[in-house]
Formats: sequence, C-alpha cells, structure tokens
Amino acid sequence: MQLIRVSSYEELSRKAADIISAQVILKPGCVLGLATGSTPIGTYRQLIERFRRGDLDFSRVTAFNLDEYLGISPEHPQSYHAFMQEQLFRHINICPRRCHVPEGCAEDPRAFARAYDQAIAEHGGIDLQLLGIGNNGHIAFNEPGDAFIKETHVVSLKKSTIEANKRFFTSIDQVPTQAITMGVGSIMQAKKVLLLAEGPVKKDALEKALYGPICPQMPASILQLHPDLTVICHVDG
Ligand code: GLP
Repeated sequence: MQLIRVSSYEELSRKAADIISAQVILKPGCVLGLATGSTPIGTYRQLIERFRRGDLDFSRVTAFNLDEYLGISPEHPQSYHAFMQEQLFRHINICPRRCHVPEGCAEDPRAFARAYDQAIAEHGGIDLQLLGIGNNGHIAFNEPGDAFIKETHVVSLKKSTIEANKRFFTSIDQVPTQAITMGVGSIMQAKKVLLLAEGPVKKDALEKALYGPICPQMPASILQLHPDLTVICHVDG
C-alpha cells in the first residue's frame, strides 16, 4: 500500500487527478471504475481542466460506476447518473455509450446486476478503481455486514449511510433506503485501486480500514489485501 498524506483538499484532488491522468495517458483505452460522493468532485474538476487544456483525451475510455440508488430514475437530480453527468461526463469527450452506471430503475435489478458484472468482465476488468469511504467504512454501497459480497447486488442502506447522505436531499425520508452496488469482487480485481479520504469525519473509518482486522463489519478493510492500493488522505483537519 502507498499512503499519501496531504495537507488540503486541493492537494488531494490534484494528486488523485495525477494518478487518473497517468492511467489514461498510459492506456488510452483503459477501463476506469468511478465513484460518487463529495470527495471525488475536486478530482473530477481537475480532470475537466486538464481535458480543456488539451492534456487528456477520454475518447477511448470506458467507465463503470460503483453504485446507484434503487428506485431512482437517471433523470432524478440526486441520482448518481445525474451526478456523473454534472460532475464529469458532460464536460469531457468520453463516449456516452461507454459510461456505465448501475440502473436504479431496472425492471429486474438482480438480472441487471449479473449483466453489469458480465459487462465489466467482458471489458477485461477495471484498470483503475477510484473509491471514497463511508463514515461507517463502506466502499461503494458495500455496507457493514456479516459477509463480503463479491457480485454486484441490491443492498439495504444502513441508518448511518442514510443519515450521512440526507444532505443531498430535501429531507431524510427522501433518501432511498436501497441501492444497487458493485460488490467487492470487481473492486478487488481492479488492477489498481485509488482510495480517497477527505475530512476528520473519515479518520476513524480509514484507520480501522487500513490497520484493523479484515472483516465485513468494516468493508474497506478488504482493501488491505489489494496488491496495488494507493490511499490519498486529508483527515487531520
Ligand atoms: C456514498 C457512496 C460511496 C462514497 C461515500 C462517501 O454513500 N455510495 O461510493 O464513497 O458515500 O461519500 P462522500 O465522499 O460524500 O463522503
């Protein structure tokens, strides 16, 4: 594991964008695993700037997002589809048909989940997986539980996650209670993983994830087993 401690959110975002840029430059047809949440917004801004300067070309890149709320349409302003369009996709030259985000409104979410994993596998897996971490140690929407789930699956969100994500909705009862998420299988099979942790609120989860026991009650702890994990953190205020 490579742990990079930085002293500002700006620096975290620049360094994360450096790593993603290097991936896209070295392998223009790479597969990126992308994340939502507040943490990667600065990274995406950096990537957009670099694209506008002519330093990055996303025309051959394929993206697979980690997760989506269940029962929410892609047009819903708080959907992760809308988030990715707004924060990244519509500002760069990535091909829309190469942008994959799990379907929150799939008629059969379980069948969709199987097809999503198959599509990732058909693309040869993920080259670089970008991750945030939840206050409770979740990665994507792999919530603390009794077992690690490998495949893309439907999950019931923990109270702590609903509480943490209510800031994006008008009220807590607007927050969906279920989501569809990539499992830890595709994440752990990614060739590289880049985990970002921003803010003192993430300090405890990050420490437990990186140095505590590897257990499903702390989903991010499985990353200790990843052979190429880079962590960029700014958790000391
Ligand atoms: C959400 C997402 C995760 C994200 C996490 C942290 O629930 N499903 O992929 O890493 O929350 O979000 P934030 O960066 O806003 O703290």
